[in-house]
Amino acid sequence: MSKINSLYNNPILTCTVVSDTHIDINHPVPALPMKLLRNAIDDSTSAVNGTDAFIIIGDTTSRGNDRNWELVNEVFKKTKRKPECLLMAIGNHDIWSDEGAEAAIGRYLKNYTLLDGKEHSKTYFSKVIKGCYFIFLGSEGDADCEAEISDDQLEWFSSKMKDAGESGKPIFVFCHQSLNGKHGLPKTFSRDESDTGPMDGGIGTKSAEIEQILKKYSNVYYFSGHSHMGISSFESIETKGYSDFEKDGNLTLINLPSLACGNHHGEFNKTGCGLQLEVYDDKVVLRPRRYNRKKWLKSVKIKDGKPYYEETIK
Ligand SMILES: [Fe+2]
Repeated sequence: MSKINSLYNNPILTCTVVSDTHIDINHPVPALPMKLLRNAIDDSTSAVNGTDAFIIIGDTTSRGNDRNWELVNEVFKKTKRKPECLLMAIGNHDIWSDEGAEAAIGRYLKNYTLLDGKEHSKTYFSKVIKGCYFIFLGSEGDADCEAEISDDQLEWFSSKMKDAGESGKPIFVFCHQSLNGKHGLPKTFSRDESDTGPMDGGIGTKSAEIEQILKKYSNVYYFSGHSHMGISSFESIETKGYSDFEKDGNLTLINLPSLACGNHHGEFNKTGCGLQLEVYDDKVVLRPRRYNRKKWLKSVKIKDGKPYYEETIK
């Protein structure tokens, strides 16, 4: 057990990234996912040099009802301190509720506002931290497991990416769903590989357009969750045909495990795990961390025999 400390000296920024926390009143023991979320926030905010943002890539709740959001608020109230900045994508589960998608999206926006004290009116948004763009895509309706991305959102995304590209800094894009067909999808979407539709586990009909925009720029990192894949190495794309860390031209794709539900297909499938993102002048580092144990995940050699992913900024 040790406090989070950056791998190298003088990072420009550091963030905690987790996904699929699935806070759920109907969980057999609702306190379990709540504890995992609280552990991650407490570990993140206790970092030796602080953490610039706490990021959840969707499915914060298992259903977007009032009771589940009350539990999320309860978790944040019980943490040692609040994250400096909360960046919370919307997931398909946050959109599902007995009262329909519009009501659930309203609850996500209301509770995001309650949690970080800033007004939120859309499921897509961006934030500039220490000169780096953090761009969040988000479904605007119920598209089942996929995301409903409007033409307005695509236009907004394209213009934000242009601004981010002009910054000359690495660009971080987050969406609950992966691009279609990445990280071994569609087969890795389910534990028993029973899903066979080409878009299963992916963002859906706008995937190709989003990918085209992402690939216009250098040093772009696209983070997703959704499929509840455990942590697997960069090299496992060669041996198993899928990985959490993929390169597609200039684009780096990262899929996060579920923080609080069971994971599958990974070399490490336990709960409590996410990634510390560290940005330096010349490189980006991603380090799997077991927030519930306050320690780095060392058992999976992520890339080049090291328990982290490192890439030089070009
Ligand atoms: Fe999920």
